Amino acid sequence: MPVIRHRSPYETLTDRLRTAGCVYAEDEARLMIDAAPTAEALEAMAARRVAGLPLEHILGWAEFCGLRIAVASGVFVPRRRTEFLVRQAAALLDAWRKVPGAGRAAPVVVDLCCGSGAVGAALAALAGPAELHSAELHSAIELHSADIDPTAVACARTNVLPLGGEVHEGDLYAPLPPGLQGRVRLLAVNAPYVPSADIETMPQEARVHEPRACLDGGADGLEVQRRVAAGAREWLMPGGHVLIETSRRQAAQTAGIFRTHGLAARVLRSEELGATVVAGSVVLPGGR
Ligand SMILES: C[S@@+](CC[C@H](N)C(=O)[O-])C[C@H]1O[C@@H](n2cnc3c(N)ncnc32)[C@H](O)[C@@H]1O
Repeated sequence: MPVIRHRSPYETLTDRLRTAGCVYAEDEARLMIDAAPTAEALEAMAARRVAGLPLEHILGWAEFCGLRIAVASGVFVPRRRTEFLVRQAAALLDAWRKVPGAGRAAPVVVDLCCGSGAVGAALAALAGPAELHSAELHSAIELHSADIDPTAVACARTNVLPLGGEVHEGDLYAPLPPGLQGRVRLLAVNAPYVPSADIETMPQEARVHEPRACLDGGADGLEVQRRVAAGAREWLMPGGHVLIETSRRQAAQTAGIFRTHGLAARVLRSEELGATVVAGSVVLPGGR
C-alpha cells in the first residue's frame, strides 16, 4: 500500500508564501505559526502576507539590533542596514565616555525622524555596560525621540518610554524641549532620503504599505537632510556629533550639505550591511 504523507501546516504555509514571492518563506512561516493563537488567526496572517503586507506589520514587531521593536501598521519598518547607524552612534558615545573630564551626566541623545523609535531604543539598550542592571542602564543616556507622524509617535512611545526616553511629536527640531539647545551630544537621524521620482521603483511592501512621508526626500532625496543639517549646530554641544543615514550614491552630497552648514563631515560605510552614514561634528575653536 502506498503511504500517503500529509503535509504539515508549516510545509503548506511555506509553499504558499514561496509561491507569493516571499524569499524567506521558511522563516516567515515559522514566525507566523509561533505568533498565531488559532488556525483562523494563522489563515488571516497568511492571507495578508500573500496580499503583500510587510511581515513586520502582520507580526506587530521587527527584529532590530537584537531587540523586538513594536511596529504598528503605517509605521516605517526599521531596516537591518540602519543597525550600522546605531553601531556608529554607540561607538561615539563609548569614545566620549572615555574622555577624561567627560563628566558623569548622561549624554543627551536625540533620535530625529524616529519612526518606531528603533534607533533610540537600540541606543538606550546598548548604552550601558552589559553588567549594569536595567534600572541603571536607563539612565546611561538621556534619550529624546521625535517624529512628525502621530502614528509613528504613538508606536515609538511603546518602544522608548519603557527605556526611560521621551517621544515628541512635530516637525524636525520644533517639538524638542528648548532646554536641549546646545546640549545634544549625539543626533542620530534616519530621515527620508529617496528621490521622489525613485519611489515608484521601490518594492511594493515599501511603496504601498509605508507612508510616502517615510520615504520621500524630495527632488534629489536630500531636502530633509538639508533641514536637519541647517539646525544641527543650534542643538549640538561643542564636540557633539550628528549621524545621518544616506545612500552610497548620495553620500558625497550629504557630506557637502554638512560642510555648508559648518560641520566637519566623514563618510562611513559598511559593506556587510550595505549601509552608508555621514558623520558630522561641530568643529571646536582651534579647528579641533
Ligand atoms: C525612513 S523613516 C525612518 C524611521 C526610523 N528612523 C527608522 O530608521 O526606523 C523616516 C521617518 O521620518 C519621519 N519624518 C518625515 N519628515 C519629517 C519631519 N519633517 N519631521 C519629523 N519627522 C519626519 C517619517 O514620519 C518617518 O517616520
